[in-house]
Amino acid sequence: MNEKSVLVSGVKPTGDLHIGNYFGAMRQFVELQEKYKSYVFIADYHALTTSHPQRHPDEVRASIRHIALGYLAIGLDPKKVVFFKQSDVPAHTELAWIFNCLTTMPYLMRAHAYKDAEAKNKEISVGTFDYPMLMAADILLYDPAVVPVGRDQKQHVEFARDTAQKFNSLYGETFAVPEPLILDSTAVVPGTDGQKMSKSYGNVIPLFADHDELARCVMGIVTDSSGERPQNVYALHKLVKSEEELAPIYAEHEGNYKALKEMLIEDLDRYLAPMRTKYEELKNDSGIVDEVLESGKREARAVSEAKMERVRKAIGVA
Ligand code: ADP
Ligand code: TRP
Repeated sequence: MNEKSVLVSGVKPTGDLHIGNYFGAMRQFVELQEKYKSYVFIADYHALTTSHPQRHPDEVRASIRHIALGYLAIGLDPKKVVFFKQSDVPAHTELAWIFNCLTTMPYLMRAHAYKDAEAKNKEISVGTFDYPMLMAADILLYDPAVVPVGRDQKQHVEFARDTAQKFNSLYGETFAVPEPLILDSTAVVPGTDGQKMSKSYGNVIPLFADHDELARCVMGIVTDSSGERPQNVYALHKLVKSEEELAPIYAEHEGNYKALKEMLIEDLDRYLAPMRTKYEELKNDSGIVDEVLESGKREARAVSEAKMERVRKAIGVA
């Protein structure tokens, strides 16, 4: 039997999960776990570039736990996926250091994220500047064929590819050169104000919201009266019901935004309820997150340490 090819991806623990995260990214990991041997990790050291020192350590911890529970609740299967925390696997930061000594400042200055931060006159930490090298290490340790990411992360995967090629040409074939797999975000999920749903805009519908909270969010959706349909309501409705099913409903209730919103609440609730129930169940099982992450840590450490032994030999420190 052919071995499955490998997938690696990281998710930053930066705030409460919302349905934009789910439809734009998370659910695709659940589909991909059938096809690939997957390494999915919580990129807590990457998140430090934006959280340190503003976020309280308790908040960081809570955020990591929320992401772990969230991914388990939506169906990420720890039997199929090596699910771990970046900070639990020291090879990531160790390899990043070796890459730091291979790469140059002008090269990293080409990163969009760095250029944006600089254009906004932000104070840029060395960690933020070096973000792409830690990400290259995350990826290359596991020899993946593919790296699923949002479109905004494509350049980072290209940096990882360049770094693999540079290392290989200097020290001999050591790393596989991966391909980005751009997550299908053709449907950018709009928030309650019609802009892209994002925690930074305060327009989100939380993924694990209960019925009351869903109702509050949906009733707050800004509707524009220019078209025959309230676009912001319809765009969200489409995520949970087919357009064929929606057409007669929207025709029958044309102009009655309140009725349409009420239906959206019920449809969203029905769709999200099983994941919410699972989330609550897992939340009350105090050991589950630790158990899953512990087992992920063991496997990720074994694989990455074997790679590091080769790397250390290749560069001559071992
Ligand atoms: P936020 O914008 O709330 O800060 P993140 O940047 O943490 O969200 O996004 C994590 C993942 O979820 C990314 O892969 C991103 O592409 C996806 N995502 C976030 N918001 C949306 C959205 N409104 N529509 C589609 N995908 C989204
Ligand atoms: N930078 C990615 C993001 O902001 C998260 C990430 C960190 C990642 N390391 C990775 C994604 C390795 C893919 C592979 O979304």
